[in-house]
Amino acid sequence: MQSARNYTLSLFDCFAGMGYDVLTRVPHLPTINPPLWELGHLAWFTEWFVLREALSSHPADAQRASLLTRGDDWFDSNTVPHRSRWTLDLPSAGALKTYCHEVLDRTLDKLSREPGTDEALYPYRLALAHEDMHGEALLYTLQTLGVPVPPSLSRDEPVRSPSARIAYPGGTIALGAQEGGFVFDNEKQAHQCYVAPFDIDAGLVTNAQFAEFMADGGYQNRQFWSVAGSAWLMQQERSSPRYWQREAGALGGAQQGGQGGGQSDREGGRQGAGQGDRQGDRQWITTRFGRLMTLAPAEPVRHICLYEAQAYCAWLGRRLPTEAEWEFAALSGQAGFAWGQLWEWTASPFEPYPGFAPDRYREYSEPWFMTHQVLRGASFATPARFGSARYRNFYRPERDDMFVGFRTCAL
Ligand SMILES: [Fe+2]
Repeated sequence: MQSARNYTLSLFDCFAGMGYDVLTRVPHLPTINPPLWELGHLAWFTEWFVLREALSSHPADAQRASLLTRGDDWFDSNTVPHRSRWTLDLPSAGALKTYCHEVLDRTLDKLSREPGTDEALYPYRLALAHEDMHGEALLYTLQTLGVPVPPSLSRDEPVRSPSARIAYPGGTIALGAQEGGFVFDNEKQAHQCYVAPFDIDAGLVTNAQFAEFMADGGYQNRQFWSVAGSAWLMQQERSSPRYWQREAGALGGAQQGGQGGGQSDREGGRQGAGQGDRQGDRQWITTRFGRLMTLAPAEPVRHICLYEAQAYCAWLGRRLPTEAEWEFAALSGQAGFAWGQLWEWTASPFEPYPGFAPDRYREYSEPWFMTHQVLRGASFATPARFGSARYRNFYRPERDDMFVGFRTCAL
């Protein structure tokens, strides 16, 4: 918990360096929260479930008052509307850091006296998972706002995506949470699930592969797009993934972004995703945490929404994996299935498993069933303690701001 909090505070300092610790300077976007609000919310959430021993997230269920007199008015995500978080009369960053410190001190002290049972540790593990998730959200908010982040904080290392495909025999698996430890409610209950034989990419679709789709008119040819995807595309007027842009000529300033400088070593002299396509004299560049860089062809394509992933699959004559197939592959023990670099869209809408019942954080899953899509895996920004092959992430189909990519399956 101390490590998660240190990370949160370090990311907050990145925001503060750009003036985003002041509520009114933060752009009013539906996908982000003001960092100052996030800071208070994280400590408030821990205080709610650990120190105030709340039996659930219902506003009447805390057993004692907050250290902050107005804490519940400011930081309860169930009762404070998103749009109002920019205009709250919040304490200063210094005062909220003091609150964070006090809550964590008391939490660690209380933890030291707890028995090591799953039941006793539940609120602590919930608070830690919550802070880990918000930590990743803070990092993709830094990407959204174009704020520079030191590599030690972004943990964003260059990787190659394996190009092999793997055939799995299928069979019956136990989908969902097994006994013990901490899991969110949407992983319960474990149940038997039959998975037919399937053939799946060993790694994620790369920038170079996605550039082929674009060069072949992928964004212009509506036959590749679902009805919802076409509607999204018309609103966006997009012809490339978010953050992609063309730059004429050679690398120019793009190499100064850091990762771009090492790319030619990894690519044996190739210079950018899609080189050789119709506009081969101009290569693709992108922005990572506010810095321009060349897109490395062999790296997984990222910041792709579900509709773009589906359109690519339709163009290729393949499909997204279901979440059961994904879990089957990840837990098969068979070598070669690479995951953990980016979250991955699946073909599965976010639905309850049989026997679902909300846990103490009642709004974690239930309000989002059927409107969100399941993502599996983890990203470079996900702490190892949080990553699990059974974890079910979920976002609305149009989201592309988080660290997300995809892989394909044979039809
Ligand atoms: Fe939260």
